[in-house]
Amino acid sequence: MDNLDQLVISATADFAAATEPARLEDAKARYLGKDGSLTALLKGLGKLPAEERKSAGAAINVAKERIESALTARRDALKNTQLEAQLAAEALDVTLPGRGISRGGLHPVIKSLDRVEQLFRSIGFEVADGPEIETDWHNFTALNTPENHPARSMHDTFYLQGPSEHGGKVEEDVLLRTHTSPVQVRAMLDHVERHKHLETMPELRVICPGRVYRVDSDATHSPMFHQVEGLWIGENVSFADLKGVVADFLRRFFESDDLKVRFRPSFFPFTEPSAEIDVAFMSGSLEGRWLEIAGCGMVHPNVLRFGGFDPEKYTGFAFGMGPDRLTMLRYGINDLRLFFEGDLRFLSQFN
Ligand code: DAH
Repeated sequence: MDNLDQLVISATADFAAATEPARLEDAKARYLGKDGSLTALLKGLGKLPAEERKSAGAAINVAKERIESALTARRDALKNTQLEAQLAAEALDVTLPGRGISRGGLHPVIKSLDRVEQLFRSIGFEVADGPEIETDWHNFTALNTPENHPARSMHDTFYLQGPSEHGGKVEEDVLLRTHTSPVQVRAMLDHVERHKHLETMPELRVICPGRVYRVDSDATHSPMFHQVEGLWIGENVSFADLKGVVADFLRRFFESDDLKVRFRPSFFPFTEPSAEIDVAFMSGSLEGRWLEIAGCGMVHPNVLRFGGFDPEKYTGFAFGMGPDRLTMLRYGINDLRLFFEGDLRFLSQFN
């Protein structure tokens, strides 16, 4: 039956032309609906002579099944296309890093400072703090640094203008502290204030870690850097104690007995005698080179006096070291600026 084949072909083509489910249902109605062409053929069967009816009916039913299966196939295809479009539109790139909060870490210099604090705490030192915006008096005068000392030059230091810390009326010279040594003075005054009712004060043992500022900038100098000040005052504190404490600290900090410590005579206004502390490693890439890591000395009587201590009764030692330098040596870093550039590729290596 040519016209039945024709009908199946045309239905299949109509279904293929329908690109939306609603159009497909319209096309279906044209063949299989109440007034559809195939339905019309089925209705016409009754008019055929009885002997033709059976075979004609069978042929029409075959055509109907073929149209129905073409319809089902097209319905499935449209559903798939729709699903694929939806999946594409709602696609998630699961390879993108999430937006969660990533885990932070401590800066290598802060890690060193923590270590320094822990080591000094273990031998009875407390940790003291002082302001980064410091008075000229604490930063220089009380540390026996004369008015005409070059360190006081405007070019060497960051001076600030502003009201004093004592009420805001009197203008006082304030500056970004050039070292942590002024915290020595604050710690002494505070200690004396707390213990002045006693005939003999307990020993004062503090370290003062913090940021300091100088007009300096190159591969080994940064306008902001860190220092740790140490101070031990008591009735019989000697240079031998200083040597013992510092040498022991360095061996524990670098986790090595394989290093030498040298005290080289030097000058600081706030200590007498004064020395520079050098360290040399006996192995590794820096083997045998003397590296300067701190200044130190016996606290000058004038400084003790400014701090409220009687220099006839008490003696003490002080030191000031560079934890940036210690960190560079510990981790083998050759450019100080890496610490302050905030490059995560560098910083994340320490955590
Ligand atoms: N304040 C000194 C500086 O910044 C370092 C220093 C030297 C500190 C000797 C001290 C000391 O406490 O006794 O260069």
